[in-house]
Amino acid sequence: MAEIRQGINGMDCLELVHQSGARLVIYLQGAHATAWRDAHGNDILFMSEKSSFKSGHPIRGGIPVVFPQFGDGLLPKHGFARINQWKYLGADSSDACAMSAFELTDSEETRRLWPHTFRVEMEFRLRSEELEIVFTVENTGAEAFEFQNGLHTYFAVGDISGVSVSGLHGAEYVDFLRDAAKRRDIRPAVVFDRETDRVYPYAPDELVIRGAASGRAIKIVKHNMNDVVIWNPWIEKARRMPDFGDDEYKRMVCVETGNLHAPLVLPKGAIHTSAALFRIEGVRQAPC
Ligand code: BG6
Repeated sequence: MAEIRQGINGMDCLELVHQSGARLVIYLQGAHATAWRDAHGNDILFMSEKSSFKSGHPIRGGIPVVFPQFGDGLLPKHGFARINQWKYLGADSSDACAMSAFELTDSEETRRLWPHTFRVEMEFRLRSEELEIVFTVENTGAEAFEFQNGLHTYFAVGDISGVSVSGLHGAEYVDFLRDAAKRRDIRPAVVFDRETDRVYPYAPDELVIRGAASGRAIKIVKHNMNDVVIWNPWIEKARRMPDFGDDEYKRMVCVETGNLHAPLVLPKGAIHTSAALFRIEGVRQAPC
């Protein structure tokens, strides 16, 4: 059984270990996966060496959880879920996978920022070459609310200049670095030679990242997550970010999946479930 231990700066975390040797570290702040190592010892997620790991501050790298707001707005950027302490619900393991689940519910503090009652659950399912994350949002209140949710995943790459993200050919996007106009991506794959920050609304459900640090491709399959955001800060923005090394933009790409472009409406008592599967390509996995 996985047990809570103290991680960096004494922050509580859990290490999930699959029998294949694959490992996943999840911090209770934000139900934030900070490290995922596959069965061959490859690091799949990027984590900044400058991340502060300070209670109440976002962790720079891994898989930040976005809820109930994406980007800037009335709430803290990307929502309050990533800077709140979640409750550990438990872990389980079978031959096929190691699982753990975490929950965040409204508190006096969240209701002060966002006047709604809710329950959010993150479930992590780790297999030898796969990580599946199920994201459940429940409206436990008496009125409908609007929300955005997603996984702001930082993937570790060998060198950003050799990275491509395919699956978005022909898809519409909005470039956050330009105006709000919708453009169509005519390139066979997204490649990186400058700051990139764009949302693809209603993007295809399957994407492939080539050029990952492991030397293998990573397939992303999303479910009930409408949108994809692709982000790399490049040189100037990297320099402006205090919790990110000047050269670290070369070793990461964020491929974010979620309901990030337009908020969804969740009626009272309703439950919304979405999921993302990250698969290191080339190995077949048994379902669990
Ligand atoms: C991306 C946004 O999702 O997150 C970028 O599109 C932003 O504009 C990036 O810079 C990182 O955000 P933060 O709050 O974690 O620094």
